[in-house]
Amino acid sequence: MSQRTELNRRTFLRNAGMAALVGGVGVKSSEAATLNAQGSTQSATGRYDFDTIYSRVGTNSSKWDAQIAKFGREHVQVGMGTADQDFRIAPAITRALRARIEHENYGYLTIPDSYRESIVDWNRRRYGLEIDPETIRHSDGVHPAIISSLRAFCPPRSKVLLLTPNYNGFYTDIRVVNTVAEESPLRLVNGRYEIDFEDFERRIDHDTHAFILCNPQNPTGNVWSREDLMRLGEICTRRRVVVLADEIHCDFVTNGNVYTPYATLDDPEVVRNSITYKSVSKSFNLSAMKCAYLFSSNPDYLDRISGAGQHRQSMNTLGIVAAEAAYNECEDWLDQLIGYIDETQSFVEAFVRTHVPHVQFVKPEGTYLAWLDVSDAIDRVGAMPAVAGDPQATPETTFQRYLVEHANIHVNPGSSYGVGGAGRMRMNIATSRQLVELALSNMAGALARA
Ligand SMILES: Cc1ncc(COP(=O)(O)O)c(C=O)c1O
Repeated sequence: MSQRTELNRRTFLRNAGMAALVGGVGVKSSEAATLNAQGSTQSATGRYDFDTIYSRVGTNSSKWDAQIAKFGREHVQVGMGTADQDFRIAPAITRALRARIEHENYGYLTIPDSYRESIVDWNRRRYGLEIDPETIRHSDGVHPAIISSLRAFCPPRSKVLLLTPNYNGFYTDIRVVNTVAEESPLRLVNGRYEIDFEDFERRIDHDTHAFILCNPQNPTGNVWSREDLMRLGEICTRRRVVVLADEIHCDFVTNGNVYTPYATLDDPEVVRNSITYKSVSKSFNLSAMKCAYLFSSNPDYLDRISGAGQHRQSMNTLGIVAAEAAYNECEDWLDQLIGYIDETQSFVEAFVRTHVPHVQFVKPEGTYLAWLDVSDAIDRVGAMPAVAGDPQATPETTFQRYLVEHANIHVNPGSSYGVGGAGRMRMNIATSRQLVELALSNMAGALARA
Protein backbone atom coordinates (compact mmCIF):
# COMPACT_ATOMS: atom_id res chain seq x y z
CA MET A 1 0.00 0.00 0.00
CA SER A 2 1.43 3.41 -0.95
CA GLN A 3 2.23 5.97 1.75
CA ARG A 4 -0.58 8.18 0.49
CA THR A 5 -3.07 5.35 0.59
CA GLU A 6 -2.10 4.45 4.13
CA LEU A 7 -2.35 8.10 5.18
CA ASN A 8 -5.81 8.36 3.69
CA ARG A 9 -6.92 5.35 5.64
CA ARG A 10 -5.61 6.74 8.89
CA THR A 11 -7.10 10.19 8.33
CA PHE A 12 -10.38 8.62 7.46
CA LEU A 13 -10.44 6.44 10.55
CA ARG A 14 -9.57 9.33 12.84
CA ASN A 15 -12.18 11.63 11.32
CA ALA A 16 -14.90 9.09 11.25
CA GLY A 17 -14.16 7.29 14.52
CA MET A 18 -15.03 4.13 12.67
CA ALA A 19 -12.54 1.51 13.84
CA ALA A 20 -15.35 -1.02 14.05
CA LEU A 21 -16.18 -0.51 10.38
CA VAL A 22 -12.66 -1.35 9.32
CA GLY A 23 -11.76 -3.97 11.86
CA GLY A 24 -14.91 -5.89 11.13
CA VAL A 25 -15.33 -7.16 14.66
CA GLY A 26 -18.13 -6.72 17.09
CA VAL A 27 -20.47 -5.21 14.53
CA LYS A 28 -24.05 -5.27 15.71
CA SER A 29 -27.30 -4.05 14.28
CA SER A 30 -26.96 -1.05 16.57
CA GLU A 31 -23.93 0.08 14.55
CA ALA A 32 -25.89 2.62 12.56
CA ALA A 33 -27.57 4.07 15.62
CA THR A 34 -24.30 4.43 17.53
CA LEU A 35 -22.43 6.04 14.68
CA ASN A 36 -25.20 8.39 13.74
CA ALA A 37 -26.06 9.63 17.19
CA GLN A 38 -24.27 12.95 16.85
CA GLY A 39 -24.14 15.54 14.09
CA SER A 40 -26.73 17.81 12.61
CA THR A 41 -27.91 17.87 9.02
CA GLN A 42 -27.96 21.60 8.44
CA SER A 43 -25.53 24.23 9.71
CA ALA A 44 -26.41 27.74 10.84
CA THR A 45 -25.40 28.97 7.38
CA GLY A 46 -28.04 26.78 5.79
CA ARG A 47 -25.56 24.25 4.38
CA TYR A 48 -26.56 20.61 4.61
CA ASP A 49 -23.94 18.16 5.79
CA PHE A 50 -23.25 15.43 3.25
CA ASP A 51 -19.72 14.83 4.54
CA THR A 52 -20.41 13.22 7.90
CA ILE A 53 -20.65 9.47 7.42
CA TYR A 54 -24.14 8.19 8.04
CA SER A 55 -23.94 4.46 8.64
CA ARG A 56 -26.74 2.28 7.32
CA VAL A 57 -25.36 -0.98 8.64
CA GLY A 58 -28.01 -2.92 10.51
CA THR A 59 -30.95 -1.35 8.68
CA ASN A 60 -31.51 -4.16 6.14
CA SER A 61 -29.94 -2.01 3.47
CA SER A 62 -29.43 -3.92 0.23
CA LYS A 63 -26.31 -1.90 -0.59
CA TRP A 64 -24.65 -2.63 2.76
CA ASP A 65 -26.32 -5.35 4.80
CA ALA A 66 -27.07 -7.75 1.94
CA GLN A 67 -23.43 -7.58 0.84
CA ILE A 68 -22.16 -7.98 4.41
CA ALA A 69 -24.33 -11.09 4.74
CA LYS A 70 -22.85 -12.44 1.50
CA PHE A 71 -19.18 -11.50 1.82
CA GLY A 72 -18.62 -10.89 5.55
CA ARG A 73 -18.38 -7.65 7.52
CA GLU A 74 -14.62 -7.42 7.18
CA HIS A 75 -14.90 -7.37 3.37
CA VAL A 76 -17.45 -4.59 3.03
CA GLN A 77 -15.88 -1.37 4.23
CA VAL A 78 -17.73 0.52 1.53
CA GLY A 79 -20.92 -0.67 -0.17
CA MET A 80 -21.23 1.02 -3.57
CA GLY A 81 -23.55 -1.26 -5.51
CA THR A 82 -27.31 -0.58 -5.36
CA ALA A 83 -28.27 2.86 -6.69
CA ASP A 84 -29.44 4.66 -3.58
CA GLN A 85 -27.85 7.29 -1.31
CA ASP A 86 -26.21 6.96 2.09
CA PHE A 87 -27.10 10.52 3.15
CA ARG A 88 -29.63 11.54 5.75
CA ILE A 89 -32.79 12.60 3.98
CA ALA A 90 -33.89 16.25 3.91
CA PRO A 91 -35.14 17.33 7.38
CA ALA A 92 -38.51 18.53 6.02
CA ILE A 93 -39.31 14.96 4.94
CA THR A 94 -38.60 13.60 8.41
CA ARG A 95 -40.74 16.37 9.92
CA ALA A 96 -43.66 15.53 7.63
CA LEU A 97 -43.37 11.81 8.41
CA ARG A 98 -43.22 12.49 12.17
CA ALA A 99 -46.35 14.59 11.96
CA ARG A 100 -48.18 11.87 10.04
CA ILE A 101 -47.28 9.02 12.40
CA GLU A 102 -48.85 11.00 15.24
CA HIS A 103 -52.11 9.75 13.77
CA GLU A 104 -52.00 6.03 14.39
CA ASN A 105 -54.06 4.63 11.57
CA TYR A 106 -52.96 3.43 8.14
CA GLY A 107 -56.14 2.28 6.47
CA TYR A 108 -56.86 2.58 2.75
CA LEU A 109 -56.38 6.05 1.40
CA THR A 110 -57.36 8.26 -1.49
CA ILE A 111 -54.38 9.72 -3.30
CA PRO A 112 -54.69 13.43 -2.48
CA ASP A 113 -54.86 16.13 -5.17
CA SER A 114 -52.13 17.95 -3.27
CA TYR A 115 -49.67 15.15 -4.13
CA ARG A 116 -50.58 15.32 -7.82
CA GLU A 117 -50.18 19.11 -7.66
CA SER A 118 -46.73 18.77 -6.10
CA ILE A 119 -45.69 16.59 -9.07
CA VAL A 120 -47.06 19.11 -11.58
CA ASP A 121 -45.46 22.12 -9.81
CA TRP A 122 -42.08 20.45 -9.46
CA ASN A 123 -41.83 19.49 -13.11
CA ARG A 124 -43.04 22.90 -14.29
CA ARG A 125 -40.78 24.84 -11.93
CA ARG A 126 -37.60 22.91 -12.58
CA TYR A 127 -37.94 21.73 -16.16
CA GLY A 128 -40.67 23.75 -17.85
CA LEU A 129 -42.55 20.46 -18.27
CA GLU A 130 -46.34 20.86 -18.28
CA ILE A 131 -48.11 17.73 -17.04
CA ASP A 132 -51.88 17.54 -17.12
CA PRO A 133 -52.72 16.12 -13.65
CA GLU A 134 -55.44 13.97 -15.25
CA THR A 135 -52.76 12.08 -17.18
CA ILE A 136 -50.77 11.02 -14.11
CA ARG A 137 -50.97 7.39 -12.98
CA HIS A 138 -49.44 6.28 -9.69
CA SER A 139 -47.27 3.27 -9.00
CA ASP A 140 -45.31 1.79 -6.13
CA GLY A 141 -42.20 1.89 -8.30
CA VAL A 142 -40.93 2.50 -11.80
CA HIS A 143 -40.49 -1.25 -12.30
CA PRO A 144 -44.16 -2.17 -11.81
CA ALA A 145 -45.14 0.72 -14.11
CA ILE A 146 -42.75 -0.40 -16.84
CA ILE A 147 -43.86 -4.01 -16.48
CA SER A 148 -47.53 -3.11 -16.97
CA SER A 149 -46.58 -0.94 -19.96
CA LEU A 150 -44.60 -3.75 -21.57
CA ARG A 151 -47.58 -6.05 -21.01
CA ALA A 152 -49.82 -3.51 -22.74
CA PHE A 153 -47.70 -3.04 -25.87
CA CYS A 154 -45.48 -6.08 -26.34
CA PRO A 155 -46.84 -9.52 -27.21
CA PRO A 156 -44.99 -12.50 -25.69
CA ARG A 157 -41.63 -13.21 -27.35
CA SER A 158 -41.56 -9.84 -29.13
CA LYS A 159 -38.51 -7.57 -28.90
CA VAL A 160 -37.91 -4.58 -26.63
CA LEU A 161 -35.24 -2.13 -27.77
CA LEU A 162 -32.52 -0.90 -25.41
CA LEU A 163 -29.43 1.24 -25.88
CA THR A 164 -26.62 -0.55 -24.08
CA PRO A 165 -24.87 -0.59 -21.66
CA ASN A 166 -28.13 -0.06 -19.82
CA TYR A 167 -29.71 -0.47 -16.39
CA ASN A 168 -29.67 -4.19 -15.48
CA GLY A 169 -33.17 -4.04 -13.93
CA PHE A 170 -34.72 -3.57 -17.39
CA TYR A 171 -33.58 -7.05 -18.38
CA THR A 172 -35.62 -8.47 -15.50
CA ASP A 173 -38.70 -6.43 -16.49
CA ILE A 174 -38.35 -7.66 -20.08
CA ARG A 175 -38.01 -11.28 -18.93
CA VAL A 176 -40.95 -11.03 -16.52
CA VAL A 177 -43.34 -10.24 -19.37
CA ASN A 178 -41.83 -12.93 -21.59
CA THR A 179 -40.29 -10.56 -24.12
CA VAL A 180 -36.72 -10.35 -25.41
CA ALA A 181 -34.16 -7.52 -25.17
CA GLU A 182 -32.92 -6.20 -28.51
CA GLU A 183 -29.69 -4.38 -27.72
CA SER A 184 -28.33 -1.51 -29.79
CA PRO A 185 -24.81 -0.87 -28.46
CA LEU A 186 -23.75 2.71 -27.84
CA ARG A 187 -20.50 3.74 -29.54
CA LEU A 188 -17.64 4.96 -27.39
CA VAL A 189 -16.13 8.06 -29.03
CA ASN A 190 -13.33 9.87 -27.14
CA GLY A 191 -14.56 8.50 -23.83
CA ARG A 192 -18.20 9.50 -24.43
CA TYR A 193 -20.98 7.12 -25.42
CA GLU A 194 -22.96 8.03 -28.56
CA ILE A 195 -26.04 6.56 -30.17
CA ASP A 196 -25.58 4.61 -33.40
CA PHE A 197 -28.85 5.66 -35.02
CA GLU A 198 -28.42 3.43 -38.08
CA ASP A 199 -27.91 0.39 -35.87
CA PHE A 200 -30.85 1.44 -33.68
CA GLU A 201 -33.24 1.62 -36.63
CA ARG A 202 -31.88 -1.53 -38.27
CA ARG A 203 -32.89 -3.50 -35.18
CA ILE A 204 -36.57 -2.59 -35.51
CA ASP A 205 -38.80 -5.07 -37.31
CA HIS A 206 -42.46 -6.16 -37.21
CA ASP A 207 -41.75 -7.79 -33.85
CA THR A 208 -40.46 -4.65 -32.09
CA HIS A 209 -43.12 -2.68 -30.21
CA ALA A 210 -41.36 -0.76 -27.46
CA PHE A 211 -38.10 1.05 -26.72
CA ILE A 212 -37.03 1.71 -23.12
CA LEU A 213 -35.17 5.00 -23.05
CA CYS A 214 -33.06 5.75 -19.98
CA ASN A 215 -32.47 9.50 -19.64
CA PRO A 216 -30.01 10.12 -18.02
CA GLN A 217 -28.60 6.74 -18.90
CA ASN A 218 -27.73 4.37 -16.08
CA PRO A 219 -24.85 3.30 -15.99
CA THR A 220 -23.00 5.45 -18.55
CA GLY A 221 -24.27 8.79 -17.19
CA ASN A 222 -25.27 10.19 -20.61
CA VAL A 223 -27.75 13.05 -20.45
CA TRP A 224 -29.37 12.84 -23.87
CA SER A 225 -29.56 16.06 -25.89
CA ARG A 226 -32.77 17.40 -27.43
CA GLU A 227 -31.37 16.51 -30.87
CA ASP A 228 -30.59 12.90 -29.87
CA LEU A 229 -34.03 12.49 -28.31
CA MET A 230 -35.73 13.96 -31.39
CA ARG A 231 -33.88 11.58 -33.71
CA LEU A 232 -34.79 8.59 -31.54
CA GLY A 233 -38.36 9.86 -31.29
CA GLU A 234 -38.79 10.31 -35.03
CA ILE A 235 -37.50 6.82 -35.75
CA CYS A 236 -39.78 5.27 -33.12
CA THR A 237 -42.85 7.23 -34.24
CA ARG A 238 -42.31 6.39 -37.92
CA ARG A 239 -41.68 2.70 -37.11
CA ARG A 240 -44.55 2.48 -34.58
CA VAL A 241 -42.40 1.65 -31.60
CA VAL A 242 -43.71 3.08 -28.29
CA VAL A 243 -41.13 5.04 -26.27
CA LEU A 244 -41.05 4.23 -22.55
CA ALA A 245 -38.98 7.13 -21.17
CA ASP A 246 -37.51 6.28 -17.77
CA GLU A 247 -36.32 9.61 -16.33
CA ILE A 248 -35.82 8.50 -12.73
CA HIS A 249 -32.26 9.88 -12.62
CA CYS A 250 -33.17 13.24 -14.21
CA ASP A 251 -32.46 15.44 -11.20
CA PHE A 252 -28.77 14.51 -11.14
CA VAL A 253 -27.16 16.38 -13.97
CA THR A 254 -23.58 17.61 -13.60
CA ASN A 255 -20.93 19.41 -15.63
CA GLY A 256 -23.34 22.17 -16.69
CA ASN A 257 -25.37 19.71 -18.79
CA VAL A 258 -29.12 20.07 -19.21
CA TYR A 259 -31.77 17.38 -18.83
CA THR A 260 -34.40 17.46 -21.57
CA PRO A 261 -37.65 15.76 -20.60
CA TYR A 262 -38.80 13.60 -23.51
CA ALA A 263 -42.28 15.06 -23.07
CA THR A 264 -40.97 18.56 -23.93
CA LEU A 265 -39.86 17.61 -27.45
CA ASP A 266 -41.25 19.96 -30.10
CA ASP A 267 -43.25 17.46 -32.14
CA PRO A 268 -46.57 16.58 -30.41
CA GLU A 269 -46.81 13.34 -32.44
CA VAL A 270 -43.44 12.22 -31.09
CA VAL A 271 -44.51 13.09 -27.55
CA ARG A 272 -47.89 11.35 -27.97
CA ASN A 273 -45.95 8.20 -28.84
CA SER A 274 -44.41 8.06 -25.37
CA ILE A 275 -44.97 7.42 -21.67
CA THR A 276 -42.67 8.98 -19.06
CA TYR A 277 -41.77 7.36 -15.71
CA LYS A 278 -40.53 9.38 -12.76
CA SER A 279 -40.13 9.15 -9.02
CA VAL A 280 -38.76 10.93 -5.98
CA SER A 281 -36.83 7.79 -5.13
CA LYS A 282 -33.38 8.56 -6.57
CA SER A 283 -33.46 12.31 -5.97
CA PHE A 284 -34.55 12.31 -2.33
CA ASN A 285 -33.42 8.81 -1.38
CA LEU A 286 -36.95 7.48 -0.90
CA SER A 287 -36.69 4.27 -2.93
CA ALA A 288 -38.11 2.01 -0.24
CA MET A 289 -41.02 4.45 0.25
CA LYS A 290 -42.33 3.07 -3.04
CA CYS A 291 -43.76 6.05 -4.80
CA ALA A 292 -43.44 6.60 -8.53
CA TYR A 293 -45.65 7.87 -11.34
CA LEU A 294 -46.11 7.76 -15.07
CA PHE A 295 -47.79 10.17 -17.44
CA SER A 296 -48.56 10.44 -21.14
CA SER A 297 -50.38 12.89 -23.39
CA ASN A 298 -51.85 9.84 -25.18
CA PRO A 299 -55.13 8.75 -23.50
CA ASP A 300 -55.17 5.54 -25.56
CA TYR A 301 -51.78 4.51 -24.15
CA LEU A 302 -52.96 5.22 -20.59
CA ASP A 303 -56.09 3.13 -21.15
CA ARG A 304 -54.08 0.27 -22.56
CA ILE A 305 -51.72 0.28 -19.58
CA SER A 306 -54.57 0.06 -17.06
CA GLY A 307 -56.51 -2.38 -19.27
CA ALA A 308 -54.25 -4.85 -21.09
CA GLY A 309 -51.26 -3.96 -18.89
CA GLN A 310 -53.37 -4.52 -15.77
CA HIS A 311 -51.74 -1.63 -13.98
CA ARG A 312 -53.32 -1.07 -10.60
CA GLN A 313 -52.47 2.21 -8.93
CA SER A 314 -51.00 1.56 -5.56
CA MET A 315 -49.13 3.77 -3.10
CA ASN A 316 -48.42 3.78 0.61
CA THR A 317 -49.40 6.48 3.08
CA LEU A 318 -45.91 7.39 4.24
CA GLY A 319 -44.60 7.38 0.68
CA ILE A 320 -47.10 10.02 -0.36
CA VAL A 321 -46.32 12.16 2.69
CA ALA A 322 -42.59 11.90 2.03
CA ALA A 323 -42.88 12.57 -1.72
CA GLU A 324 -45.09 15.60 -1.26
CA ALA A 325 -42.74 17.09 1.34
CA ALA A 326 -39.77 16.40 -0.96
CA TYR A 327 -41.27 18.16 -3.97
CA ASN A 328 -42.75 21.06 -2.00
CA GLU A 329 -40.09 21.77 0.62
CA CYS A 330 -36.75 20.20 -0.25
CA GLU A 331 -35.53 21.86 -3.42
CA ASP A 332 -32.66 23.62 -1.62
CA TRP A 333 -31.51 20.31 -0.10
CA LEU A 334 -31.50 18.67 -3.53
CA ASP A 335 -29.67 21.58 -5.18
CA GLN A 336 -26.96 21.37 -2.54
CA LEU A 337 -26.73 17.61 -3.01
CA ILE A 338 -26.44 17.95 -6.80
CA GLY A 339 -23.49 20.32 -6.21
CA TYR A 340 -21.93 17.82 -3.80
CA ILE A 341 -22.32 14.94 -6.27
CA ASP A 342 -20.86 17.07 -9.08
CA GLU A 343 -17.80 17.81 -6.93
CA THR A 344 -17.48 14.17 -5.95
CA GLN A 345 -17.53 13.11 -9.62
CA SER A 346 -14.72 15.64 -10.28
CA PHE A 347 -12.89 14.30 -7.22
CA VAL A 348 -13.18 10.73 -8.53
CA GLU A 349 -11.89 11.79 -11.94
CA ALA A 350 -8.85 13.55 -10.45
CA PHE A 351 -8.16 10.83 -7.87
CA VAL A 352 -8.36 8.00 -10.39
CA ARG A 353 -6.09 9.83 -12.82
CA THR A 354 -3.46 10.49 -10.15
CA HIS A 355 -3.64 7.53 -7.80
CA VAL A 356 -5.40 4.55 -9.36
CA PRO A 357 -3.29 3.11 -12.16
CA HIS A 358 -4.96 0.61 -14.54
CA VAL A 359 -8.35 2.32 -14.14
CA GLN A 360 -9.81 5.05 -16.36
CA PHE A 361 -12.74 7.32 -15.66
CA VAL A 362 -14.42 10.14 -17.55
CA LYS A 363 -16.74 12.33 -15.47
CA PRO A 364 -20.33 11.61 -16.55
CA GLU A 365 -22.94 14.16 -17.58
CA GLY A 366 -25.46 12.94 -15.03
CA THR A 367 -26.43 10.38 -12.34
CA TYR A 368 -24.52 9.61 -9.15
CA LEU A 369 -22.89 6.61 -10.75
CA ALA A 370 -19.26 6.27 -11.84
CA TRP A 371 -18.76 3.94 -14.79
CA LEU A 372 -15.15 2.87 -14.39
CA ASP A 373 -13.09 1.38 -17.20
CA VAL A 374 -11.22 -1.43 -15.45
CA SER A 375 -10.18 -3.52 -18.46
CA ASP A 376 -6.46 -3.08 -17.71
CA ALA A 377 -7.04 -3.80 -14.04
CA ILE A 378 -8.88 -7.01 -14.89
CA ASP A 379 -5.93 -8.10 -17.03
CA ARG A 380 -3.51 -7.16 -14.28
CA VAL A 381 -5.17 -9.25 -11.59
CA GLY A 382 -5.95 -12.04 -14.09
CA ALA A 383 -9.65 -11.97 -13.18
CA MET A 384 -10.74 -14.79 -15.43
CA PRO A 385 -13.86 -16.71 -14.42
CA ALA A 386 -13.13 -20.08 -12.86
CA VAL A 387 -13.94 -22.80 -15.39
CA ALA A 388 -15.55 -25.19 -12.96
CA GLY A 389 -17.17 -22.61 -10.71
CA ASP A 390 -20.18 -20.43 -11.33
CA PRO A 391 -21.35 -20.87 -14.95
CA GLN A 392 -22.66 -17.27 -14.86
CA ALA A 393 -19.25 -15.88 -13.89
CA THR A 394 -17.65 -13.24 -16.09
CA PRO A 395 -14.31 -11.42 -15.81
CA GLU A 396 -16.29 -8.56 -14.25
CA THR A 397 -18.01 -10.69 -11.59
CA THR A 398 -14.64 -12.29 -10.83
CA PHE A 399 -13.10 -8.82 -10.52
CA GLN A 400 -16.01 -7.77 -8.29
CA ARG A 401 -15.09 -10.58 -5.92
CA TYR A 402 -11.42 -9.62 -6.17
CA LEU A 403 -12.24 -6.09 -5.07
CA VAL A 404 -14.38 -7.35 -2.20
CA GLU A 405 -11.61 -9.61 -0.97
CA HIS A 406 -8.60 -7.36 -1.59
CA ALA A 407 -9.99 -3.82 -1.39
CA ASN A 408 -13.04 -4.44 0.84
CA ILE A 409 -15.37 -2.52 -1.46
CA HIS A 410 -18.49 -3.73 -3.22
CA VAL A 411 -19.22 -2.37 -6.71
CA ASN A 412 -21.37 -3.76 -9.52
CA PRO A 413 -19.93 -5.78 -12.42
CA GLY A 414 -20.22 -4.14 -15.86
CA SER A 415 -21.26 -7.42 -17.46
CA SER A 416 -24.71 -7.14 -15.83
CA TYR A 417 -25.46 -4.03 -17.93
CA GLY A 418 -25.68 -5.78 -21.30
CA VAL A 419 -23.61 -5.45 -24.45
CA GLY A 420 -20.75 -3.00 -23.91
CA GLY A 421 -20.43 -3.67 -20.17
CA ALA A 422 -17.27 -5.79 -20.49
CA GLY A 423 -14.25 -4.31 -18.73
CA ARG A 424 -16.39 -1.96 -16.63
CA MET A 425 -17.56 -1.64 -13.05
CA ARG A 426 -20.32 0.66 -11.75
CA MET A 427 -19.49 2.51 -8.55
CA ASN A 428 -22.25 4.40 -6.73
CA ILE A 429 -20.71 7.59 -5.34
CA ALA A 430 -23.79 8.92 -3.49
CA THR A 431 -22.08 8.73 -0.13
CA SER A 432 -19.73 10.79 2.01
CA ARG A 433 -16.65 11.83 0.02
CA GLN A 434 -14.55 10.32 2.80
CA LEU A 435 -15.92 6.91 1.92
CA VAL A 436 -15.41 7.50 -1.79
CA GLU A 437 -11.78 8.39 -1.09
CA LEU A 438 -11.35 5.36 1.14
CA ALA A 439 -12.80 3.09 -1.54
CA LEU A 440 -10.54 4.46 -4.26
CA SER A 441 -7.50 4.29 -1.97
CA ASN A 442 -8.31 0.69 -1.16
CA MET A 443 -8.68 -0.07 -4.86
CA ALA A 444 -5.35 1.59 -5.65
CA GLY A 445 -3.69 -0.38 -2.85
CA ALA A 446 -5.16 -3.70 -4.05
CA LEU A 447 -4.07 -3.08 -7.62
CA ALA A 448 -0.59 -2.02 -6.53
CA ARG A 449 -0.23 -5.29 -4.63
CA ALA A 450 -1.59 -7.43 -7.49
C1 LIG B 1 -33.06 3.64 -14.61
C2 LIG B 1 -33.76 3.05 -13.43
N1 LIG B 1 -35.09 2.79 -13.50
C3 LIG B 1 -35.77 2.26 -12.47
C4 LIG B 1 -35.13 1.95 -11.28
C5 LIG B 1 -35.90 1.35 -10.15
O1 LIG B 1 -37.02 2.11 -9.89
P1 LIG B 1 -38.07 1.74 -8.73
O2 LIG B 1 -37.28 1.47 -7.49
O3 LIG B 1 -38.92 2.94 -8.64
O4 LIG B 1 -38.83 0.56 -9.21
C6 LIG B 1 -33.75 2.20 -11.15
C7 LIG B 1 -33.03 1.85 -9.91
O5 LIG B 1 -31.84 1.78 -9.85
C8 LIG B 1 -33.06 2.76 -12.25
O6 LIG B 1 -31.75 3.04 -12.19
